[in-house]
Amino acid sequence: MNGEDRGLTRRRLLAGGGIAGASALAAAGGYIAAREIAGDDDGDRHTAAAASDRGDAPLFELDPRYVNLTTFVLATHPRPVHDAIERHRRKLDENTALYLREAEVALEEASRSALAGYLGVRPDGVALTDSTTMGIALVYARLRLDPGDEVVTSEHDFFATHESLRLRERLDGVTVRRVRLYDDPESASMDQIVSAASRALSPRTRALALTWVHSSSGVKLPLREIAAVVAEANRGRRERERILLCVDGVHGFGVEDASPADLGIDVLASGCHKWLFGPRGTGLVWAAPHAWRRLAPTIPSFDPRVYSAWIEDHPPRDAPPSALMTPGGFHSFEHRWAVPEAVEVHAGLGGRAEVARRTHARAAELKEGLAGIGGVRIRTPGDAALSAGLVCCEVEGLDPGEVVDRLREEHRVVASVTPYRTRYVRFGPSVANRSDDVSRGVEAIAAIARRT
Ligand SMILES: Cc1ncc(COP(=O)(O)O)c(C=O)c1O
Repeated sequence: MNGEDRGLTRRRLLAGGGIAGASALAAAGGYIAAREIAGDDDGDRHTAAAASDRGDAPLFELDPRYVNLTTFVLATHPRPVHDAIERHRRKLDENTALYLREAEVALEEASRSALAGYLGVRPDGVALTDSTTMGIALVYARLRLDPGDEVVTSEHDFFATHESLRLRERLDGVTVRRVRLYDDPESASMDQIVSAASRALSPRTRALALTWVHSSSGVKLPLREIAAVVAEANRGRRERERILLCVDGVHGFGVEDASPADLGIDVLASGCHKWLFGPRGTGLVWAAPHAWRRLAPTIPSFDPRVYSAWIEDHPPRDAPPSALMTPGGFHSFEHRWAVPEAVEVHAGLGGRAEVARRTHARAAELKEGLAGIGGVRIRTPGDAALSAGLVCCEVEGLDPGEVVDRLREEHRVVASVTPYRTRYVRFGPSVANRSDDVSRGVEAIAAIARRT
């Protein structure tokens, strides 16, 4: 068993302090991790062998032959999520129509409410999606824009934002402009980023499409400060002309201790299946009420209020925009309905602040270790205000793909290559990892760097 999962077990959760509450325990089937056992360096007490001697089930079921420093790519299901999926799957298999009839509306609401609770927003502000990409596409496909309006994005954004905007540009000639917010990511500064964002805005700008944490470099944008310059640019504008700050939040969501209100953003799209360790194939779009008024649905919603309006032959009147924006069609419901358990696991780990502390601690250890290795250049800022859980680096003289292959084949350490034109070696230690996983990663990079 890998990482801190070794310590996160059912019995300890039941016994330990720092539990999120009785309802959390019930919802998570009792597997909530207590803070007591979530310490950083508690040695052998939490090894897989010790857990198995005690008859405890580990929280994560990572392959023990590898050190996995890429759980952010697509979540491994924590045990409560896995069990909830199994529970729903069994009931759907036994009697699909009956279970849907009995449970569909309530379970969907439970998932929406759990995510709203996690984010600190109202449930009717949250649309459920299958991924970050789906959410981003829905937002940019139907954002209300007039001829001549422009959307500003950055060179650092992920394919999903760039491609959604390219498709929109092709459809109705909306102008999309890409700006550079920093040059060398590791030396990016708050002032540089915020003033580049500020300079990018024009009287025609209607949306600023950014990514919270860049998966190309690990740079975390100072969204609160960017929101302040957007607010300044919006002064005196009519509602329809105001710039919306729309964010791909996937590498901050489940890592950072911040609500949309804290960040000052207008729209957040994220998957739940990366740092939140939610069910694979789940995501959300949150928007502030003024932003929902500027978004329109693309995919028909199966919300009962929308569906009954169709039966009664009138447009939907009483469904909130978030319900209208939740794509309909039947889904892999067993996954969608297991979202509350992911939120409860997170609560059991100590909640947003504690998860942020631990994730940042792992990233800091990794950066510190890498900094001491000759021939290794860290490309992610050292400052926690400008970075989150992702850590990117280069090994002099080696292609990042070769480094990642050698990490896996020679050292059984799993890393990834940034999927961008400029490629780096990328790690993302998470709450599923302990300090010794990070040390293994550092030692492996040191061994590879020595032999170049
Ligand atoms: C910044 C960013 N946004 C979105 C995605 C895609 O997320 P999803 O699978 O939830 O669409 C990725 C990578 O997978 C990413 O790095």
